[in-house]
Amino acid sequence: MKKLFALLLALVMCLTLVACGTAEEPASEGEAALTITEGVLTMGTNAAFPPYEFYDGEEIVGIDAEIAAALAEKLGMSLEIIDMDFSSIVTSVQTGKVDVGIAGMTVTEDRLENVNFTESYATGIQVVIVPEGSDITSVDDISTKLANGEQVLVGVQESTTGHIYAASSVEDGGYGEENVIAYTNGATAVEALNQGKVDCVIIDNEPAKAFVAANEGLKILDTEYVVEDYAIAVAKENSALLDALNTAMAELTEDGTIQNILDKYIPAE
Ligand code: ARG
Repeated sequence: MKKLFALLLALVMCLTLVACGTAEEPASEGEAALTITEGVLTMGTNAAFPPYEFYDGEEIVGIDAEIAAALAEKLGMSLEIIDMDFSSIVTSVQTGKVDVGIAGMTVTEDRLENVNFTESYATGIQVVIVPEGSDITSVDDISTKLANGEQVLVGVQESTTGHIYAASSVEDGGYGEENVIAYTNGATAVEALNQGKVDCVIIDNEPAKAFVAANEGLKILDTEYVVEDYAIAVAKENSALLDALNTAMAELTEDGTIQNILDKYIPAE
């Protein structure tokens, strides 16, 4: 009898332990994890786009990397950054290879068909880089020269808005696909310009400034091409993460963190 009682007691204790163990588990059923790996925010980017994302030695740094780190901290997560082609980012977000795409990415109608975007955290402007002394002196010169039957080759970063605008038809304000060469990233497009393989490069203004500062003999045309909003891409079905990021971003905007990060990399002129 004593033995049986001891056994029962042991059993009850075991069950209690198990019950407590279950209760302590972090996410209760039905409450899906926000990210692919719990506690980690995995970000896809294309790190050839200074000052938003670029390599400092082995490390990816820049505005987007710092904003992502601040957001991850707010969400109580660590940050992992995966470098990839810009053209792979939206698909990687859709297929759950990464949780977010943060890459100076412009909010566009087309992308909104595939992913959601957070509130915007920065503005970008498409500009034109030419070699100093180029006879292209304004955005309009490109179309004028083409209309006159002269050859103009426009370099762009593959799958970016600059690529989409430039390759669109003349009626749509572009230059036609046959006059555009797409490079895997901004750095290689600028390299092609340096080598005379293209006559100009259309790219976002801050990277343009960084590339012109790092390469002698290049300049940015005064005429602006298009003004755009940058935001973070999140998978359509992950509205919990979208909401969490928007809340965190509002707090980081409110307390000046976002502005401080922008000012650190984009000094006032
Ligand atoms: N803002 C442009 C776009 O969304 C270019 C972004 C390129 N970003 C990058 N990290 N390479 O299409």
